[in-house]
Amino acid sequence: MTAQYKVHGDVAVITMDNPPVNGLGLATRQGIASGLEQANADPAVKAIVITGAGKAFSGGADIKEFGSPKAIAEPNLLSVILAVENSVKPVVAAVHSVCMGGGLELALGCHYRIAAPGTNVALPEVKLGLIPGAGGTMRLPRVLGVETALNMIVSGEPVKSELLAQQPGQKLFDKMAKDAAGVVDEAIAFAREVAGKRPLPRVRDLPSKHPQGDAYFQFARNMVKGMAKNFPAPVKCVDAVEASTKKKFDEGLVFEREIFMALMLTPESRALRHIFMAERAASKVPDVPEDTPKREIKSVAVIGAGTMGGGISMNFLNAGIPVTILEMKQEAIDRGIATMRKNYEGQVKKGKLKQDKYEQRMSLLKTTLDYKDLAQADLVIEAVFEEMGVKQKVFETLDQVMKPGAILASNTSTLDVNRIAAFTKRPQDVVGLHFFSPANVMKLLEVVRGDKTAKDVLATVMALAKTIRKTAVVSGVCDGFIGNRMIEQYSRQAGFLLDEGATPQQVDKAIEKFGFAMGPFRMGDLAGNDIGWAIRKRRATERTEMKYSKTADKLCELGRFGQKTGAGWYDYQAGKRDAIPSKLVEDMIAEHRRTLGIEPRKITDEEIVQRLVFALVNEGAHIVEEGIASRASDIDMVYLTGYGFPLHRGGPMLYADTVGLFNVMQAMKRFQQNPRDDAKFWEPAPLIKKLVAEGKGFNG
Ligand code: NAI
Repeated sequence: MTAQYKVHGDVAVITMDNPPVNGLGLATRQGIASGLEQANADPAVKAIVITGAGKAFSGGADIKEFGSPKAIAEPNLLSVILAVENSVKPVVAAVHSVCMGGGLELALGCHYRIAAPGTNVALPEVKLGLIPGAGGTMRLPRVLGVETALNMIVSGEPVKSELLAQQPGQKLFDKMAKDAAGVVDEAIAFAREVAGKRPLPRVRDLPSKHPQGDAYFQFARNMVKGMAKNFPAPVKCVDAVEASTKKKFDEGLVFEREIFMALMLTPESRALRHIFMAERAASKVPDVPEDTPKREIKSVAVIGAGTMGGGISMNFLNAGIPVTILEMKQEAIDRGIATMRKNYEGQVKKGKLKQDKYEQRMSLLKTTLDYKDLAQADLVIEAVFEEMGVKQKVFETLDQVMKPGAILASNTSTLDVNRIAAFTKRPQDVVGLHFFSPANVMKLLEVVRGDKTAKDVLATVMALAKTIRKTAVVSGVCDGFIGNRMIEQYSRQAGFLLDEGATPQQVDKAIEKFGFAMGPFRMGDLAGNDIGWAIRKRRATERTEMKYSKTADKLCELGRFGQKTGAGWYDYQAGKRDAIPSKLVEDMIAEHRRTLGIEPRKITDEEIVQRLVFALVNEGAHIVEEGIASRASDIDMVYLTGYGFPLHRGGPMLYADTVGLFNVMQAMKRFQQNPRDDAKFWEPAPLIKKLVAEGKGFNG
């Protein structure tokens, strides 16, 4: 059992003990239930205290049990809370540090609550696409008032205990303890004081009401609808809290439970729970144990102050790590610094950054034209032009000047990290750190593991990614790594769709309706169509067999690189970003179709979405199979954090599971029959065939 039971004189103390956050898994629930039984049966015990060992009261449901029979096995959380509430001896919750989700619901079932200052109090279920399912929506409004409770339930954000304790009329906390260390002792003393008081106070007996009643809930529902977009749970939070004001307590509990169970089955909740687990999984590298010693990173050097170098540097400055930027010419430094300053000043203007913080960050930045000034840096990140020859010179120089043990990283987006490593005599210290543009904003960091990259280098950069608040995903070496290798297939499909009869705006609209922030053509115009053009030219010599639509090249031949040239797949008015459908582009596409002898056909939005997304899925499956990615969920993290894949779909691989891999495979076989498409590409990846044969999905 993962709860301890100890009697202190006439007070029994039940301590949940299930590291790291005393998750309320089956064993912990059993421990609490049996502790209660023991205490109630012991005539020497007059009152009971429930608390949590270590760094939490309780973080709530045990996420490891989600979806498994254990999660709802008796005693489930509702039953435990009911047992607490029905205890004939008073139960005092001694909360500290973390009191969230089921942990808070448990505390609300107790007769009294004492809190340590600094406790994070929250009902974060909405972040997993759920509502609290063990009385939270019924009890929290009764102790904090409808508005405060609803705000907490809809946002899922933690609030500090001392702030809640200051709220007039609050009944959440009966007392604030001096500190977390003494909260149990204070709770024991308090329990003795109230041991003889009857009747026992129960949260369920308090009223839940709002002075404006229906009008308030209507207003709240409208607000929440606007913000929740693709997620059903937030509006359901409003329904449940409203029910706390209208239904009898026990009926309200049933209503809450029904909503909870229904949400559990929605694809949106599945997606959010998947992301929660996938993020944790991505930080683990299968053959690099967590206790691998790490190198210390106290200073960083960045080579190149262009688009990427500046953004990359800002990440480290924001985390308080000094950076030295090296460039070829002073003008390039000046330009780079000016861009960084503009960026920071924008944040200051918006009130997101304090002026003194901004100055403090910039004071950590040095610039140089001389490699000698970098020699002592613990990590150097190269972000120079994407040309092997240029990278070669940089890495040969770094090999000569950098101190032993320094990590040498490249931000290359396509080049072979093994070749780059071979330019040095220390390939074990070389790794790819592929940031995404804008590098100070985008969450994704692809960590490219070379054949010789040392384990402690990987462990170090994975930990560093956390420090600079990136989601790191490890990729093996291949052209384009995980993300760009897949996007190539997506872009190819987008091109074929134009050839076959679609317009850029139709393709963009269909995939934006699916949930992508931007369709492929609007995205191309934003990023610059010339980048893809350059990559295609390079690959044309390497991979002659690859079939492409030539429309994108034709567009670039017209100088239509996108927003930066005022025209791309769309037209743009000076200074504006609105994409206006272009007659010229439509004519160009039609002309191209004529030269290919294609009779345009009507293409459905469904076909557009399937061809774009399943192209990602098939390439993703190859990537998992080849071991370039450690797991399918890593691919989802790449697409969610780096490519704007809709959150509520959980990433391409989870989406494929939701559709059903069998159905995905059928669609691929259909696409194989299309003479305008690439039949070879649509051959389902062996991994997909295998999973379908086993009746499984990518995620089991
Ligand atoms: P950029 O052209 O904006 O900046 C490159 C900078 O490097 C220039 O300021 C140039 O003066 C400097 N530079 C060139 N050779 C140098 C040398 N030998 N020593 C010192 N400085 C040198 O290029 P950008 O876009 O920042 O790209 C840099 C790298 O980042 C490339 O490898 C690119 O593939 C990669 N990358 C670019 C992304 C993007 O969206 N722009 C995204 C992810 C990676």
